[in-house]
Amino acid sequence: MITLTVCNHKGGTGKTTTSINLSAALALSGSKVLVVDLDPQGFLTRMMGQSEPDVSASSLVMFEQDLQSPPPILRLSTFDLIPSSPALSPALRRLTKPTDVLWAKEYIHSQLTGYDVVILDTAAAVTVYSLNALVASDLVIIPVLPEYQPVVGAEQTYQTIKMVQKSLNPGLTEAKFLFTMVDARKRNHHAYRGYLREKYGEDVMAGIVRTCTTLSVSSHDGRSVYDTNPHARGAIDYANIAEEVTTLFQDRFGHTARSSERDHENQPTPVKG
Ligand SMILES: Nc1ncnc2c1ncn2[C@@H]1O[C@H](COP(=O)(O)OP(=O)(O)O)[C@@H](O)[C@H]1O
Ligand SMILES: [Mg+2]
Repeated sequence: MITLTVCNHKGGTGKTTTSINLSAALALSGSKVLVVDLDPQGFLTRMMGQSEPDVSASSLVMFEQDLQSPPPILRLSTFDLIPSSPALSPALRRLTKPTDVLWAKEYIHSQLTGYDVVILDTAAAVTVYSLNALVASDLVIIPVLPEYQPVVGAEQTYQTIKMVQKSLNPGLTEAKFLFTMVDARKRNHHAYRGYLREKYGEDVMAGIVRTCTTLSVSSHDGRSVYDTNPHARGAIDYANIAEEVTTLFQDRFGHTARSSERDHENQPTPVKG
């Protein structure tokens, strides 16, 4: 199993879109995937067509040390979900001890076994929830739009990840920038990609996600881009990203029986974009 966090301290860079469509691509290519919505605003939960859950049926259970009740997992058509609740916000007041950054890791390893990939979607703010996600992670993907502010936000996020890696999670193997909403016609988009590649080398993912209208409309009713249009640019791009992630952790993807129960009709085929 691998735990993958999608994180950038800047908002609107494609974190939730990446969490949904990368999860769908991984699931459709045979992995058993669980998504955990750790954003108190719960955009991913809403986009998957789910209403606000009871607190006891939300991702807050990970931080309440309740290891007796079964995890509140919703089974969606392509992947599983632990939804978010607005109650995550007031609960921040209780999570102030240094050890409060360790809950998610403990919960994932004791309660969420049996998945190939657990994907954690985070809010833009640096909170105990995003720190928990980083502490629990094997891989952090930093979606970054090739524009000034998102690039600065992404570099700050990278620094936070390196700090967490050094002091709290030496096992965190990779932090990777993922360019999203790339418009090949814009010269500054080429320039920012060149800048990050030169500075961070292999920590910039080879695959990119291009601007794609289908991506921005496909996930307001629980659908991923593979349900709306499996031939859309976004579908091709996230299939390539899924392939890249799978290759990175080849030895850790033990595809489980669950994948054979899935509908593989829309199985994405990685191609050069
Ligand atoms: N590749 C893309 N092409 C076009 N629109 C996109 C793409 N990725 C994300 N978007 C849109 O950009 C906005 C912000 O994306 P979102 O994933 O919610 O970002 P975040 O979770 O980082 O705040 C949303 O309206 C989303 O639909
Ligand atoms: Mg989001």
